Amino acid sequence: MSTPAVAIIYTSNGPVETALSALHHTLPVPIGTQVLAETVCSPINPSDVRQVTGANPFKQKATTKLGTDHPVTVGGNEGLFRVLQVGKDSPLKAGDLCIPRVPGLGTWRTHILCDQTDLVCVPSSLTVEQAATIGVNPLTAYQLLTQFVDLQKGNWVLQNGGNSAVGKLITQMARIMGVNTISVVREREDFESVAEELRDLGATQVITDTQNQDLTFSVAEWIGNSSVRIAFNCVGGTSASALVKKLSQGGTLVTYGALNGADLVIPFATPEFVFKGIVATGYWLTANIMRDPELKIKTLEKVYRYYQQGLLKAPSFSKARCSFEDFAHCYQ
Ligand SMILES: NC(=O)c1ccc[n+]([C@@H]2O[C@H](COP(=O)([O-])OP(=O)(O)OC[C@H]3O[C@@H](n4cnc5c(N)ncnc54)[C@H](OP(=O)(O)O)[C@@H]3O)[C@@H](O)[C@H]2O)c1
Repeated sequence: MSTPAVAIIYTSNGPVETALSALHHTLPVPIGTQVLAETVCSPINPSDVRQVTGANPFKQKATTKLGTDHPVTVGGNEGLFRVLQVGKDSPLKAGDLCIPRVPGLGTWRTHILCDQTDLVCVPSSLTVEQAATIGVNPLTAYQLLTQFVDLQKGNWVLQNGGNSAVGKLITQMARIMGVNTISVVREREDFESVAEELRDLGATQVITDTQNQDLTFSVAEWIGNSSVRIAFNCVGGTSASALVKKLSQGGTLVTYGALNGADLVIPFATPEFVFKGIVATGYWLTANIMRDPELKIKTLEKVYRYYQQGLLKAPSFSKARCSFEDFAHCYQ
């Protein structure tokens, strides 16, 4: 028996209001190693929207398997599926909860028919929110903290975008690892309440970007004999340069985003680079997963443990309910 399904698709890049449409189709009974699953939750991450507009360098694969005569792409990278039916050669079983194994699977849909290797099962002990959002921001935070330097207890980490979902996850995971954090957030009227929230999550210190960029503002007293081994930059421009200036000898600047759209301004050929041996590099989760899908599984296992031990709060997000005929506002 075939299953009626709806997917939010695009055929070419453009603004979400015009590029996206709803495709009603039917999915056949799974055969061989195939799996038919229903969607439990499909988040909209800003990077998903950039895929639709074409601003993200990663291109999702288009397909004619949904019955169209031209290739279409299903939007979305994150999501939680519940297995309904499996082919006779699939090790999965009805009721299993799964997330996409690799980027670009397309999660903005009511149902999916795919090969079992496209999915990875997640523990049923996770909440829907934890499971549906585990594949991007928590993995990013964990890999940023573990992939570049061998952080030791008592070391310091510095980050801008401290109030972002990734920033809050970095803060929480650093606390679990015994690593101190200085989170930089934008100037705001409610700075104290944001700082309080971040300190509750584990931030050791919270400063404004004005303090970050003030050359007379020093973090030396906080750091003492320890060191700022790594700085995470998701903002760009002079906010990033200011992070470099606070790094200790041999420190590393990792850029993973560009929220203010400004080019990276790194004080090259100044003492920060010449005498301190600063390293500047970039990070992209998608490239990591494409290069080494097993690394995703290993990272997921670390994050499951943090959730299961009650050590980590899932990123907060806003919920939107909309019909397939009126979904565009969900993506804005
Ligand atoms: N490289 C990778 O693999 C990877 C993976 C995941 C995420 N990311 C990147 O990580 C960043 C954070 O993602 P997210 O999902 O955690 O974001 P999010 O939760 O939506 O938070 C966005 C944050 O950006 C801040 N912000 C917005 N515009 C800004 C500006 N002009 N200057 C400074 N800060 C600004 C906001 O600060 P306020 O609180 O002050 O409003 C907010 O804290 C994004 O750049 C995203 O693309 C990269």
